Amino acid sequence: MTEQLRRYGVIKSQKVTEIMETVDRGLFVPEGTPAYVDSPMSIGYNATISAPHMHAMCLELLEERLQPGMHALDVGSGTGYLTACFALMVGPQGRVVGVEHIPELVAWSIKNVGKSAAAPLLKEGSLSLHVGDGRKGWPEHAPYDAIHVGAAAADVPQDLIDQLKPGGRMVIPVGTFFQDLKVIDKKLDGSISVRSETSVRYVPLTSREAQIKGTD
Ligand SMILES: C[S@@+](CC[C@H](N)C(=O)[O-])C[C@H]1O[C@@H](n2cnc3c(N)ncnc32)[C@H](O)[C@@H]1O
Repeated sequence: MTEQLRRYGVIKSQKVTEIMETVDRGLFVPEGTPAYVDSPMSIGYNATISAPHMHAMCLELLEERLQPGMHALDVGSGTGYLTACFALMVGPQGRVVGVEHIPELVAWSIKNVGKSAAAPLLKEGSLSLHVGDGRKGWPEHAPYDAIHVGAAAADVPQDLIDQLKPGGRMVIPVGTFFQDLKVIDKKLDGSISVRSETSVRYVPLTSREAQIKGTD
């Protein structure tokens, strides 16, 4: 899978290649789901595991803010796959928090991570997965060097901007029908710059009720 992503130029970084080879996607998909096909797959509750090329792109965009000892937040952590990748990148001296609003997915993601190469970090506590409304972030371990949002926001939540460290970066899909993957950098003086990386199609960042009903 990583070989193909490298061939197509999605992965350029050796570190991202290593991390995606270390965290086996096969442990993060429902039984019977093809794990290594470059496509999003249903995980129930109107949610998906993002396609490998999107995981790779987000890891590449955030790599510089996922150095050992840094703090990262994964909003809409779903299967826990990217949260596990982040945790291995920042290592035991860092802190990675996943926030997902479907309790059953959080319980499942903890099991998935527990079978993966990131299991020791979950056990030690430098990686944690929580039930919560990710639009509010997770203030306890803020500010974050890296924030990844795995669902599309109509507008960028202010709480997430507030919890980004000066010098930090957020990657977030923004929009309703037409969506762009936005790269938001908070400069050292606290000012914000925003650019669009590419067009994307994600499930909405919404309330639990709206997601289950499929009304967004
Ligand atoms: C594309 S899916 C999963 C992405 C995850 N990165 C993965 O690949 O497993 C997006 C996730 O965002 C979650 N989500 C949507 N709105 C949310 C909210 N307000 N707070 C927390 N999680 C939310 C969904 O339940 C879903 O699991």
